[in-house]
Amino acid sequence: MNGYVGTPTSRVDGRAKVTGAAKYAGEFAADGLLHGFIVDATVPRGRITRLDTSDALKVKGVVDVLTHTHRVALADKDEAWKDEVAPEKGSPFRPLYDDRVKFNGQPIALVIAEDWETAKFAATRVRVEYEQEAFATDLETERGTSAKVDQPHKPRGDAAAALAGAAVRHEADYVLPTEHHNPMELYATTAVWDGSGSLTVYDKTQGVQNVHKYLCGVFDMKPEDIRVVSPYVGGAFGSGLRPQHQVVLATLAALALKRSVRVVLTRQQMYGLGYRPMTIERVALGAKSDGTLDAVTHEAIAVTSRYEDFSRNDTGWAEQLYKSPNSRLSHKLVHLDVATPCDMRAPGAATGVCALECAMDELAVALKLDPIELRLKCYSDRDQSEDLPFSSKQLRECYARGAEAFGWARRNPAPRAMRDGKDLVGWGMATGVWEALQMPVAVRIVLTANGHAEVSCAASDIGTGTYTIMAQVAADALGLPIGNIDVKLADSTLPQAPVEGGSWMAASSAHAVLGAAEDIRQELARLAKAIPDSPLGGLNASEMVLVDGTISKAGDKSRAVAIADAMRHGKLERIEKQKLNQFAEDKSHARNTHSAVFAEVKVDEELGVIRVTRVVSAVAAGRILNTKTGRSQIMGSVVWGIGMALHEETVMDHRFGRIMNANIGEYHIPVNADIHDIDVIFVDEPDDRINKLGVKGLGEIGIVGVPAAIANAVYHATGKRVRHFPITLDKLL
Ligand code: MOS
Repeated sequence: MNGYVGTPTSRVDGRAKVTGAAKYAGEFAADGLLHGFIVDATVPRGRITRLDTSDALKVKGVVDVLTHTHRVALADKDEAWKDEVAPEKGSPFRPLYDDRVKFNGQPIALVIAEDWETAKFAATRVRVEYEQEAFATDLETERGTSAKVDQPHKPRGDAAAALAGAAVRHEADYVLPTEHHNPMELYATTAVWDGSGSLTVYDKTQGVQNVHKYLCGVFDMKPEDIRVVSPYVGGAFGSGLRPQHQVVLATLAALALKRSVRVVLTRQQMYGLGYRPMTIERVALGAKSDGTLDAVTHEAIAVTSRYEDFSRNDTGWAEQLYKSPNSRLSHKLVHLDVATPCDMRAPGAATGVCALECAMDELAVALKLDPIELRLKCYSDRDQSEDLPFSSKQLRECYARGAEAFGWARRNPAPRAMRDGKDLVGWGMATGVWEALQMPVAVRIVLTANGHAEVSCAASDIGTGTYTIMAQVAADALGLPIGNIDVKLADSTLPQAPVEGGSWMAASSAHAVLGAAEDIRQELARLAKAIPDSPLGGLNASEMVLVDGTISKAGDKSRAVAIADAMRHGKLERIEKQKLNQFAEDKSHARNTHSAVFAEVKVDEELGVIRVTRVVSAVAAGRILNTKTGRSQIMGSVVWGIGMALHEETVMDHRFGRIMNANIGEYHIPVNADIHDIDVIFVDEPDDRINKLGVKGLGEIGIVGVPAAIANAVYHATGKRVRHFPITLDKLL
């Protein structure tokens, strides 16, 4: 293979996106389209005692108001509501199911009108009364009610004893707030009624087949009567892994009214979906006087709802990173009267590694060691939880390359020792780690005699570049120019794919493309050999390659048959191959991606204003399929990491159990003025064990470590350790 893989190939969907040709879920048109607007609960817990829709129904243009007492049937069994990423334990939320209110902002009615403004206005005319119940929404006051989650981790050694006997110890709580995803595109569904009982549902989702199966269960529909399509997604970051309530409501309305219905959430209503749960992370590290670790304990206490146990791996990461003979990890949940959290980029790691890497920095200070030196002293070549070697781990190289590019050697280790005019300058670093997962994905390739290929798969492209990498891999594997490859994604009728998440889609989809392309190559080899006096006569298929629109002898382009000629002789207009790529389970190696993140901050000494003036992120994630979209992925993650460190926090008024900053005016995210230099380095990391191309995936690794590197830089600049994120200026004064 040569050509496109590994190069900075521009997005194949770029033109469609910037010209507006790309259509998103809320943009699909339909005859007689109706518009739904959601009415939300204004109490966090209780029962709806009265839901009076009569005034709303009187508004001209209103068609109906659906409620738990006025709707078509919804499934009663939990199983029907469990999507492929639903928590194992619990009962998924069901919109408009009954009179129970489980969280403030819960949808309780859907007003449907001829236009959106009318629906929105009429929603203010729905009268609701509640019987309120006592509730709790504050993790910090409810911390004592936490209950341990089952997890596979087995304690190693005796961490408590090792900590007690450690020469140098550091122990602290790190608090990471609730954060909301805020993708640019609002959650939206357009459910198109075809007149005869079947629906095409355009939905903003990270997994069309997941939504398809869910809707079939929830509405007891036959798979062939519903189709879910989501060709473009304007960001999701985990919020679209589970089907969201607007897809249920739009479908419910379409089935009830036998009309096409669109439901688009407002920005405020997006805060009624999932979120990154607040966590309190208690990390204790014990070191010997030589700076090697002897004990690690990490306990995370996280928020979940009353109705589902959502938990992620916050605490397991030291097992991949640092050698320690003794360790004890535990994850606890506090059940509150809030919506169930969900995955947000690098779920578990973004928060857990933040705590771990701040703690490592504090330990380095206590040991009077350079933070990189401490990490090198503790460097682990094995995943200690399973005692396995890594398929590859070029983290040492990340530290070296990142430090070099950043100029780390020039750092004065003393806090408050570096200045730039009136600003204090701080340099901090941290490690990142994530998993390199792979999932079964099927791809169909249809090659036509004119040398064009259509590559199709149900996978989503949530903005990450899936269209582009699949086109690159197909172009190389089929020996065609990338312009001849047409990639079709995110239609539930296309070949099997899981949700796009967990950083698994690049490796998984690329290898599914390779599998289908290989079957095409075999077929072309058979056809080419069958031509009378074929220049490929006497060769095995294994000696032939697809290159420059031909099938030819490997290494000898003079012995070639044009693809078009091979197909014409075989009397074929098209060759269609579909392949399900399953990855053989390899329990002999741990598979992870790593990074070293370096940050420079400048802190105004009088005002406490913090600017992140430079970030260098050195990433080892196997082979990078596309250095341009890959770099964009990491840059986007670094920007988000800056948001985690300095800006983002969902604020709840616990007297009402209601989010107070449900908008991007008051939920602060980095803006252009907050972003300065970001340097992304991809460290060479050959890995012939993980998969054929050596690909690991980049979706999540870019954010992990960034908030800690910034927090550590803020300490270095100011001498002040802030352990409660985000690090706002009031915490420095
Ligand atoms: Mo990612 S949080 O798996 O979309």
